[in-house]
Amino acid sequence: MTFYVTTPIYYVNDRPHIGHAYTTIAADILTRHHKQRGEETFFLTGVDEHATKVWRVAEEQGLAPQDYVDRIAEDWRALPQQLNVQTDFFIRTSDDGHKRFVREFLQRIYDNGDVYEDVYAGLYCVGCEAFKTEDELVDGKCPLHNTVPEWIEEKNYFFRLSSYQDRLLELLDTRPDFVQPQFRFNEVRSFVAGGLRDFSISRAGQPWGIPLPWDESQVAYVWADALVNYLSALTYARPGEDLREELWPEVRHLMAQDILRFHCVYWPAMLLSAGYTVPKQIFIHGYLLLDELKISKSLGNAVDPLALVETYGVDALRFWCARAVTFGQDGSASISGIADRYERELGNDLGNLLSRTTAMIARFRDGHISAAPGRTAELADEIAALQTDVRAGIDAFDLTGSVDRIWVLVRTLNRYVTEQKPWELAKDEANAGRLDQVLFDLADGLRVCAVALAAYLPETAPKILSALGQPEDLRWEQVEYGRLVPVDGIEAAPPLFPRLEPAADAA
Ligand code: MSP
Repeated sequence: MTFYVTTPIYYVNDRPHIGHAYTTIAADILTRHHKQRGEETFFLTGVDEHATKVWRVAEEQGLAPQDYVDRIAEDWRALPQQLNVQTDFFIRTSDDGHKRFVREFLQRIYDNGDVYEDVYAGLYCVGCEAFKTEDELVDGKCPLHNTVPEWIEEKNYFFRLSSYQDRLLELLDTRPDFVQPQFRFNEVRSFVAGGLRDFSISRAGQPWGIPLPWDESQVAYVWADALVNYLSALTYARPGEDLREELWPEVRHLMAQDILRFHCVYWPAMLLSAGYTVPKQIFIHGYLLLDELKISKSLGNAVDPLALVETYGVDALRFWCARAVTFGQDGSASISGIADRYERELGNDLGNLLSRTTAMIARFRDGHISAAPGRTAELADEIAALQTDVRAGIDAFDLTGSVDRIWVLVRTLNRYVTEQKPWELAKDEANAGRLDQVLFDLADGLRVCAVALAAYLPETAPKILSALGQPEDLRWEQVEYGRLVPVDGIEAAPPLFPRLEPAADAA
């Protein structure tokens, strides 16, 4: 089984901000976890280049649109690497392979009789890259962008979305987990049940885009071009291979609710029209607000993920993303929370536990740990439950609940140190066996934490294993009590998350 996951392809009218990093990191946590379970994975991300707003920014900068996108696409290509995200393919909608596929795809919809010509006379929000109806506006403005949409009157080609209402309802009624979480599913279902309007799939008067195969004077509307990336990439990501056979429709799309309708309504209908099966699952996470404010360049709070990586390291950023708000629910997050989590949770709970454990092994046992002297049932049970719970949690896209679950073990181990007081045990030779057991349990527990956290903290997990003299074996079955390999030469480990400089502390 292959786990195929996608992020939205991001608009390149601007540079990446923390909101984009959020989805990309989430998709990587899921993918890394599935890899640990021995599954094949495929991670697709990339950029959406044919938007009107991209074209306008290029014009403002006095650049040909292609030159502009060629430059800025590199900043976006670097994003996953900077976040320690392992992608399999980075798609650009100006790739020849994508353009070719989109034309074929739209031609199939056309041949199927689902396209007709009409005049579009109405509003268009360039921020959303979406046609708007009056009732979607608040005081005449797009509520998301706070801008007055533009009036457009042009000959367009329309897609008969309305004729897919029954098939979409049937799909939703037979696949209740098609859209997750449940409240988003309900939103989609009531939107479809309320009646669907046909939508324009082309733009006249805009030279930037993929020309329609049956009328080259028009380009594909940016969404009719962008959504298709999830399929097109599979046809050319690996030269000579058609990955559709293996990966379609086993795909999980990840995104925030801003683009829910496009993915949960337009996209399945387009696929059905073109003769494809609909995706396996669409997961909608919340739209992260920073201290109740939408993240945007104009508000001046478009936090640069790279600046955070520089200050706190990439793992602290990934950890914050998983815990800032419950994944899948709407939420407001405070970036200042990252410093707090860095110090309290990563530094104290996890980092100190490793420092203390290794220091005690070095001091009381000369750096040596032998095979398990006995079996501590409570720890064994807790770890067995963790193994099952996190697996189920990740299957349900519950990134927050899963890391919380792992943190329960981190806390249990800290409590274990306080309760067992190894330094007291070390004072009396009669307690030697007990001390061996406690040190083994702590080292083994930390080993389990490292493996369980590896998807979230890919930089830190190997450091923990190496400090404990353990092989870097991240297979999920390693999340089991008692698998610690006997080892010599453990030394007191340096802090995993060193104290921050005061300036960063105050951030
Ligand atoms: N180009 C379209 C997507 C086409 S996919 C076929 C687009 N691009 S976007 O750059 O605006 O990206 C929107 C997505 O970025 C959101 O759905 C989400 O995945 C991510 N986010 C951007 N800002 C975000 C937050 N503030 N919070 C959470 N996710 C955010 O729409």
